[in-house]
Amino acid sequence: MTTALSFYPASDLNITPFIPAVDRNFADDVISGLALPQKQLHAKYFYDQQGSDFFDQICQLEEYYPYQTELNLLPKVASDLANTFPTDCTIVEFGAGSLIKIKPLLSAMPGIRQFIPIDISGIHLELACQQLQSDYPDLTVKPVVGDFCFPVELPALHNQQKIGFFPGSTIGNFCPAQAASFLENARCTLGPDSHLLIGVDTKKSPYYLHRAYNDANGITAKFNRNILSRINRELGANFVPENFEHYAFYNAGQGRVEMHLVSTAEHVVDVFGTAVSFAAGESIHTENSYKYTPDEFCQLATSAGWHVEQTWLAEKDLFATYLLRNHN
Ligand code: AVI
Repeated sequence: MTTALSFYPASDLNITPFIPAVDRNFADDVISGLALPQKQLHAKYFYDQQGSDFFDQICQLEEYYPYQTELNLLPKVASDLANTFPTDCTIVEFGAGSLIKIKPLLSAMPGIRQFIPIDISGIHLELACQQLQSDYPDLTVKPVVGDFCFPVELPALHNQQKIGFFPGSTIGNFCPAQAASFLENARCTLGPDSHLLIGVDTKKSPYYLHRAYNDANGITAKFNRNILSRINRELGANFVPENFEHYAFYNAGQGRVEMHLVSTAEHVVDVFGTAVSFAAGESIHTENSYKYTPDEFCQLATSAGWHVEQTWLAEKDLFATYLLRNHN
C-alpha cells in the first residue's frame, strides 16, 4: 500500500512535489514514541476536531461518570464560593474547551466580573466565547490562546481576585511529576494570593473505572483509535485502525487507568517514511488517567506550594473538587 507521503524524485516526474505542511512537533513525538520499547503516543494528540467530537460523546455516556458527577457537584460548589468571593473576581480557566463547566459558576456567583479562558485551539475557543458572551452579556470575556502546561501571561486586570479553574480531572492525564509542575506553573500564572478550583477523579472500585473506559457502545474505542486515523490524515501514515483493539484497564499499582491499542497481528506500518513493526499482541500505550484519594491529592497540591482550603466530595465519593490557595 502506498502512503500519501511516498515521494518520487521531482526530476523523474517533472513536477514540484506537493509536501503537506506537517506539524514537526507532532511528527517528532509520534516517531520517537513509536520507537520506544513500550510504544506510546501522547494523549494530547487525541484532540483534533474528530477526537474532540468523540470526547464530547464520551461525556454523554452513562458509564463515563466523571463528567456528569462533576457537573452535578458544581452548583453546590458555586453557591458556597458565592459567599467567599462576593465581588470583583476573575476566573481563569485552563484548557477551557467548550465552556460548559463555567456556567454553573457564572449562574451562582454574581461576583464574577471577568472570565479568561485559556486554550490551545484558537478557533474552537473563539466560537465558544462568542456563544458565552451572548448568554452572559455583562461578563468581560478575554480569551487567551496558549499552552496552559507552561506559565501564561494574562491580560491586565484591575485589582481583581483571581480564581483558576481546572475541571474535568484533566490533571489525571499528567503523570504525578507533570501534575506537580502544572500546579506550580498555575501558581505562577495566577500570581500571589490567588485560588485554584480543580476537579479530580477519585480512586474507587475498578468496577466503575472499567465501565467508564470500556463503554458498551464502543465510543471510547473509537476515541482511542482516532489517534491512528489522525496520524494517517496529518502525517501520511498507513495505519489500519481496525488492526488495533482498544484495551483499557485499571493499573492498581500505579493508581491509573491505562488505555492501549493492541495490534491484532504482526505487521509493519509506514509512518512518515519510517517503517514501524508490530508483533501480534503488542500495544501502543495511548493514555494514563491517574486517580487520587483526597489525601494523595492534598499532598500533591501542598508539594506544589498550594494550601487546600476546601474539599467537596460528590455522591459515593465518585469525584472531588478542591479549592486551593496560593499564599505567596
Ligand atoms: C480528558 N480526560 C480527563 C479523560 C479521562 O478520563 O482521562 C479522557 C478520556 N479518556 C477516555 N475517556 C475519557
